[in-house]
Amino acid sequence: MSNGAPSGRDSWGTRAGFLLAAVGSAVGLGNMWRFSYVAAEGGGAAFVLLYVFFVAFIGVPLMTSEMVVGRLTQSSPVVALRTLGGSGWIWLGVLFVMCGIGILSFYSVIAGWTMRYAVDAFRGALPADTTSYFASVATGVPAIVTHVLFMGITVLIVTAGVKRGLERAAYALMPVLFLLLLGLALWAATLDQGGGGYAYYLRPDLSELLNPSTISRAAGQAFFSLSLGMGALMTFASYLRTKENLGRESAVIAACDFGVAFISGLVVFPIIFHFDLGAAIGLGGAVTDNTVGTLFIAMPAAVASLGGLGQYVIGAFFLMLFLAAVTSSISLLEVATAAAVDGLRWTRRRAAIVFGLLITLLGIPSARNLNFLDFLDKFVGAFLLIVGGLLTCIFVGFRVLPQAEAELAHGLDDSRARHLWAVFVRYVAPPVLLFVAGFSLIAAIAAFRTWIAS
Ligand code: TRP
Repeated sequence: MSNGAPSGRDSWGTRAGFLLAAVGSAVGLGNMWRFSYVAAEGGGAAFVLLYVFFVAFIGVPLMTSEMVVGRLTQSSPVVALRTLGGSGWIWLGVLFVMCGIGILSFYSVIAGWTMRYAVDAFRGALPADTTSYFASVATGVPAIVTHVLFMGITVLIVTAGVKRGLERAAYALMPVLFLLLLGLALWAATLDQGGGGYAYYLRPDLSELLNPSTISRAAGQAFFSLSLGMGALMTFASYLRTKENLGRESAVIAACDFGVAFISGLVVFPIIFHFDLGAAIGLGGAVTDNTVGTLFIAMPAAVASLGGLGQYVIGAFFLMLFLAAVTSSISLLEVATAAAVDGLRWTRRRAAIVFGLLITLLGIPSARNLNFLDFLDKFVGAFLLIVGGLLTCIFVGFRVLPQAEAELAHGLDDSRARHLWAVFVRYVAPPVLLFVAGFSLIAAIAAFRTWIAS
C-alpha cells in the first residue's frame, strides 16, 4: 500500500514544489495580522516563546503525523482514515472537510479586503479617512464582491490540479511574497522611533508565560498558522511519491512559517511605534476593534500620510497579504476537493466548483457581520482545529502507531527520533491540547455571545 499510488492520481512534480506549496499553505493572513496582534496582546516576546514551544513540541510532531497518514494511504483524509482506522473514523475526516469549508468562508472575505486595499493603494485611491473607507469596503456588497472574486481565483487554481495548479502557484507567488516581506522589513527598519517597536516586540513580559488564556492563544495561533488540525498537510502528503524524511520536512515547513511570522512582526511593530499607534492595539474586544483595527485602519492611514511613497508601501503590504492568502486558501479548498475526488469519484473540476460555490455562499454572513466572522475565526479557526489535532494524535498514537511508525521509517531511519516522535504524539500533545481546547472553547463562546448580541 505504501508505494502503490492509485494510477492517474495527481502528484507533486518536485520535492521543492511540495515544500513551497506546504509553506505557502502555512504562510498566510495568520502570520501577518493574527500573529502580530496576538503577540502584542500576549506580552510580546513572552508570547513568542510560548508560540515557539507549541510549534516545536506539538506542531512538528502533529504535522509529521498528518503527513505520515497521507503518504501511507495516498488518499485524502476521509478515505485515508477509513482505510486505516475503519468506518468509525470517517467522521473525523468529515470534520476536517467542514473545518476547511468553514475557515475558507471567512478567510476569503478578509483576503477580499486585502485585494481591494492593494488595488486602491496602487491607484493612489486610498482615502485619508481609513475608518470610513474600511467600513465601506469590509462589509456589505463591496465585501461580497471581493469575496466572490477571491473565491473565483482559488477555484481556478485548484481546478488546474496539484502539479499544474497548486505547485505552479507556489513557484510563482512565494518568491514574490518573500521579496516583498524583506523589502518591507528593511523599509520599517529605517523609521525613527522604530526601536521602541522592536523593544516592545522582543522584550518578554514574563508574567504572561503562566497566563492560561495567553497559553491557549499561542497554541491556537500555532495551529492556525501551521495549517494543522484539519488534514490539509495530510492531503498534501498524499500526493507525495518519494520517501523523504517527513520529520525533517515538518521542521522545515514550521521553521519557514515561524520565520515569516517573526519578520512580519518586525514590519508591523516599528510602524506602530513610529506612528504612535499603540492605542490601536486595544486589548479585548472583537475582530472589529483590534485584529483588523491595527492592520486595516490605523496602519494604512499612518503610512499613507507619508505621501507618494506611502501609498506604494501600503500597496506592497496588502499585495503581500493577498499573495499569502491565495497560497493558503488553495490548501483550504483542496481538502474538500480531494475528499470528493477520492471518496465520491467526482472530477476535480466538479468538486472544486461545487465546494467553491458552497463556500462563497457560506461566506456571505461573514461579509455582512464582522462579529460573525470573529466567531467563526474563534470557533472553527481555533477550537475545532485543536479538537481535530487532538483526535489526529489519538488516531495516530493509539490506533495505527505501528503502521505509522513503519511509514515514517521510510526516510527517517533513526529509531530514537521515531520513538521520541511517538512519545510526543501519545503522551505530550493530547493532554496539552485537551487543556487548550477548553480555553479556546470559552473564547469561542464569548465571541458567540458578542455576535448574538450584535
Ligand atoms: N495557515 C494559514 C494562515 O496562516 C491559514 C490556513 C491555510 C489554514 N490552510 C489551513 C489554517 C488549514 C488551518 C488549517 O493564514
